[in-house]
Amino acid sequence: MNKVILLDKRPVGKPTLDDFKFIEEENPVAAEGQVLLKTLFVSVDPYLRGRMSSGKSYVPPFKLNEPIQSGLIAEVMESRNPDFKVGDYVSARLDWKEFQVSDGKDLIKVDGNAASLSAYLGILGMTGLTAFLGLTEIGKPKTGETLVVSGAAGAVGSVVGQIGKILGCKVVGIAGSEEKMTILTSKFGFDATVNYKTSTDLKTDIKNAAHDGVDIYFDNVGGVVSDAVLVNINQFARVPVCGAISLYNDTELAQGPRIQPILVKNSVLMQGFIVSNYAAKFPQAIKQLTTWLNEGKLTYTETIVNGFDHIPQAFIDLFEGKNEGKMIVKI
Ligand SMILES: NC(=O)c1ccc[n+]([C@@H]2O[C@H](COP(=O)([O-])OP(=O)(O)OC[C@H]3O[C@@H](n4cnc5c(N)ncnc54)[C@H](OP(=O)(O)O)[C@@H]3O)[C@@H](O)[C@H]2O)c1
Repeated sequence: MNKVILLDKRPVGKPTLDDFKFIEEENPVAAEGQVLLKTLFVSVDPYLRGRMSSGKSYVPPFKLNEPIQSGLIAEVMESRNPDFKVGDYVSARLDWKEFQVSDGKDLIKVDGNAASLSAYLGILGMTGLTAFLGLTEIGKPKTGETLVVSGAAGAVGSVVGQIGKILGCKVVGIAGSEEKMTILTSKFGFDATVNYKTSTDLKTDIKNAAHDGVDIYFDNVGGVVSDAVLVNINQFARVPVCGAISLYNDTELAQGPRIQPILVKNSVLMQGFIVSNYAAKFPQAIKQLTTWLNEGKLTYTETIVNGFDHIPQAFIDLFEGKNEGKMIVKI
C-alpha cells in the first residue's frame, strides 16, 4: 500500500501533528503518457504554513483532506512517457506520497552526478534562487557595504550571507543559537553574528555588530528582530523582504513600531518579493550558483530527517529553529 499525508485540520497558531492525517491507498499505476515516481527527498518549507490557512495568498490554500504538496525529488520507476526513462531523477512540486504518477508536464530532470540530489531542493533549487535573486535584484549589494541577514543559519539566509561576502560586503547574521553563531562565522564566512534569543538589547547588539549601520537588510523573519535592525538602517539602504517566519503562526495581526518615518528619513527602499517573480532569470541564476559551488566559493548545509512518517514533524521543527541550512526529509 502507498502512504499519503493529508491536511486534516487548518492549524491554529503553531502547527501540531494533529493537523495532519496519514492514510494508505492502492499503489498507483502509470497509464499511457504517465510516469510512476518514487519519492526520494521532500522539502519542508516555512511558506507551507501559509498554504495551510484558508486566507488568500500568492498560492491557493491546501484543501482539507487532500495531500499536502511541496518540492520533491523523485525517481522514475516506470515510464509510459517518451520524455522520461526508468532511473531518471526529477524535481517538482508534488504530493506527500511515497509513490505517485505524473504526466511529466511539470517535472524537471535533475542530474544526480552534477550535484547531490537533495541540493536541487536547496542551494540549486528554490531557496538558493530566493537568496541569489532577492539579494541581487532588490538588495543590489556594492563592495564595502554592510549586509544584515535574519534567519541567517537557515536555507535562504546562509546562502544570502555567502553571496554577500562574494560580492564584497561585510555580513552580519542574526540567528537563534550559539551553535548557529559558530557555523555562520566558521563555515559560511560571516563577519559577525547576533543571537536574537539571548540578546538583552537587540538594537545595540546589531548596532555594534554592524559598526557603520546597515546598508542592506535581507529580512527572513520580520517581527521584533526586524524592528531592531530597521532602527540601525543607513541612508539609501535596501530591504528585500523575503519572509516573516516569526509572524506566520500569529492568530492576530501583530502591532509593531511605525516604520514609515525611518524609511522616509533615510530614503530606504523596502520591497517584498516572491522568488517566482524572477522566473525568467532562474537559468542564469542556477548557472551562477553552480559556478560558485564548483569554485568552492559557496557551500551549504542540510538537516536531513529520515523517514516518510517524519515529514510533518520536520515541518513543525522549522518553527523551533531545529534546522541548520535546508531542512529535508529523506524517504
Ligand atoms: N519570498 C520567497 O519567495 C521565499 C522563498 C523561500 C523562503 N522564503 C522565506 O524565507 C524565510 C526563510 O526560509 P527558509 O526556507 O530559509 O527557512 P529556514 O531559515 O531554513 O528555517 C526557518 C528558520 O527560521 C528561524 N525562526 C523560526 N521561528 C523564528 C522566530 N519566531 N523568529 C526568528 N526566527 C525564527 C529558525 O532559525 P533560528 O534558530 O535562527 O530561530 C529556523 O531554523 C522564511 O520566512 C520563508 O517563508 C521566502
